[in-house]
Amino acid sequence: MQTVTTITDVRKRVAEAKATGHSIGFIPTMGALHEGHLALIRRARQECGFVAVSIFVNPTQFNEKRDLEVYPRPLEQDLLSSAEAGADLVFAPEVGEIYPAGFATQVVVDSPLTKAWEGYFRPGHFAGVTTVVAKLLHIAQCDRAYFGEKDWQQLAVVNQMVRDLSLPTVIVSCPTVREADGLAMSSRNARLSAESRKTAKVIPYLLDTAQDLLDSVTAETQTDKGPVIAAWLRTLLESNAPEAKLDYLVVVDPETLAEVDEITERALVIIAVHIGGVRLIDNRVIVRR
Ligand code: PAF
Repeated sequence: MQTVTTITDVRKRVAEAKATGHSIGFIPTMGALHEGHLALIRRARQECGFVAVSIFVNPTQFNEKRDLEVYPRPLEQDLLSSAEAGADLVFAPEVGEIYPAGFATQVVVDSPLTKAWEGYFRPGHFAGVTTVVAKLLHIAQCDRAYFGEKDWQQLAVVNQMVRDLSLPTVIVSCPTVREADGLAMSSRNARLSAESRKTAKVIPYLLDTAQDLLDSVTAETQTDKGPVIAAWLRTLLESNAPEAKLDYLVVVDPETLAEVDEITERALVIIAVHIGGVRLIDNRVIVRR
């Protein structure tokens, strides 16, 4: 595996791989790689001839300075795990390589998709994401790019951007990888104290309960209605983890992320909650059966 820091070097390696007939798989990351990222790299390894990973803590998608400052950057370890998972190339640029002096362009998905939920609680976040992802996809010239479903809204926004700009990359969405107790893998989990880590189990518990509520719907409970399920789950959160600070916990349409009332086929439960000062997000598709 080779590590490069310049756009020129990425383009050179990718052009060489294409010249020998390889398809290009790309995994954009902010580093602090965990099993969730490694699953994306392994999947790309199975599906593509050449696998490139970017490790770049993108400052423009952080709406809180402190969050950016404390974001973990274990580069050496990340390089080892990328190689082990099957990457051929890691692109680990400095900020100035991506945003040189005078950088002035933004790629913005201007729709309700970027205004709700993460967009509401993290102003400017999605503009930062789409600008850097558009730039990285151009740099990597990839056939397929891999994203985790844990950031479901991000995936929906990236898909919208790729459609709108007719980008030639296929976006591959990959299932969330979870710890043994169900907590979604996240670079932020490392910041949880032992006690908060225990409390965080409430998140997968709530998401599983959403499916149980839908399964056990009756005319009295009306738990085939998004707002009814969400209200139950909020009450459960309050009783199980009164110290948690909720940003949102709602039942939405998996494509538009607009709140749904009656669930006829499937819906998505999304949650963002602060536990012990760490903001965690997760989601789960629930199915009427
Ligand atoms: O999901 C992430 O880690 C980031 O948002 C991404 C896609 C690498 C863009 O910086």
